[in-house]
Amino acid sequence: MKNIAIIGAGTMGHGIALAFSIRGYNVTVNDISPEMLKRAKELNEGNFQTLVEAGVINPEERLEVLHKRIRYTDDLADAVCDADLVIEAIAERADVKKEMFAKLDKMTPPEAILASNTSFLDIFQFVQTGRPDKVIITHWFAPPHIMPLVEIVKGPETSPETVTMVKGVLSGIGKDTIVLNKFLPGFIVNRLQSAISMEVYYLLDNGYAAAEDIDMVAKASFGLRTPILGLVQRMDYNGLDLVQRNLLNKSYERPSWPGHSRSLDALVAEGKYGVKSGQGFYDYRDRSMEETLRNRDIKLLRLKSFLDEMKKTDQ
Ligand SMILES: NC(=O)c1ccc[n+]([C@@H]2O[C@H](COP(=O)([O-])OP(=O)(O)OC[C@H]3O[C@@H](n4cnc5c(N)ncnc54)[C@H](O)[C@@H]3O)[C@@H](O)[C@H]2O)c1
Repeated sequence: MKNIAIIGAGTMGHGIALAFSIRGYNVTVNDISPEMLKRAKELNEGNFQTLVEAGVINPEERLEVLHKRIRYTDDLADAVCDADLVIEAIAERADVKKEMFAKLDKMTPPEAILASNTSFLDIFQFVQTGRPDKVIITHWFAPPHIMPLVEIVKGPETSPETVTMVKGVLSGIGKDTIVLNKFLPGFIVNRLQSAISMEVYYLLDNGYAAAEDIDMVAKASFGLRTPILGLVQRMDYNGLDLVQRNLLNKSYERPSWPGHSRSLDALVAEGKYGVKSGQGFYDYRDRSMEETLRNRDIKLLRLKSFLDEMKKTDQ
């Protein structure tokens, strides 16, 4: 497998392209919007610089990684005509993805694998191709050139060979993968995050705690422990007898979900969308969005490098 095509150059697409190019793959990025392609190129310049500053990549590789290996085009047929693996990262809409997969089926070599980066859609129910054995979900996390995990989801007709091939390619570029043998809404990560978010909204909406306190609690307790023990092994350390007693403890009842969050609705109504608009639960207006993201990325890379070292000593 040599040539990768990424469809959609937005939040996810440009970073997925970089994740492949830094590991030696030729990547073509396609978007219907020439402005998005230009923006993706600029963002990857910044992303590369962040990787250099974090010591992850040699600055001398810039020309090769950013200009020789990645090509940006708004011509879909040109982007995918010699692709071995296509990753679709366009809008999260069934009709749009269905149309895209029909085009990809016509425009790609018959042996190419067609993957979707969908977060919640059961694409296996609606995409129609002549190669259902080669259709798969690869669910990446932002920023994809840094975050190690990719969730792989098998459809009812996806072949074991396709799963093995995709898993191998992703492992080869340094990703950690898990395979879900059948579609489950939210896969694993978004299910866990959604369960926690329900409690976050409950605490905020009912005035139990401020956003800063909830974040401090997460960072200073289970957030610190989770990279070492995960969520399941943590129970072995607590003692399973204690865990069992806590599970039966009637003082905790999962709040019923009202269908929306008052705190979130109030911010969105004021145009406070988070980092991208300068304000959300927090205020980011003292620096540009690029600087805010770079600051996060440098910290993530340092933490990841420490955790990678720790994994090596565990082996
Ligand atoms: N944003 C995240 O954190 C995240 C994480 C995991 C998965 N996803 C999933 O990845 C996919 C993309 O999400 P995103 O956040 O990058 O979206 P985005 O809106 O940032 O980018 C989507 C891009 O696709 C382009 N596009 C739309 N229709 C197209 C078409 N027909 N042909 C070519 N390009 C087209 C748009 O111009 C845009 O640049 C979605 O399915 C989303 O659910 C997103």
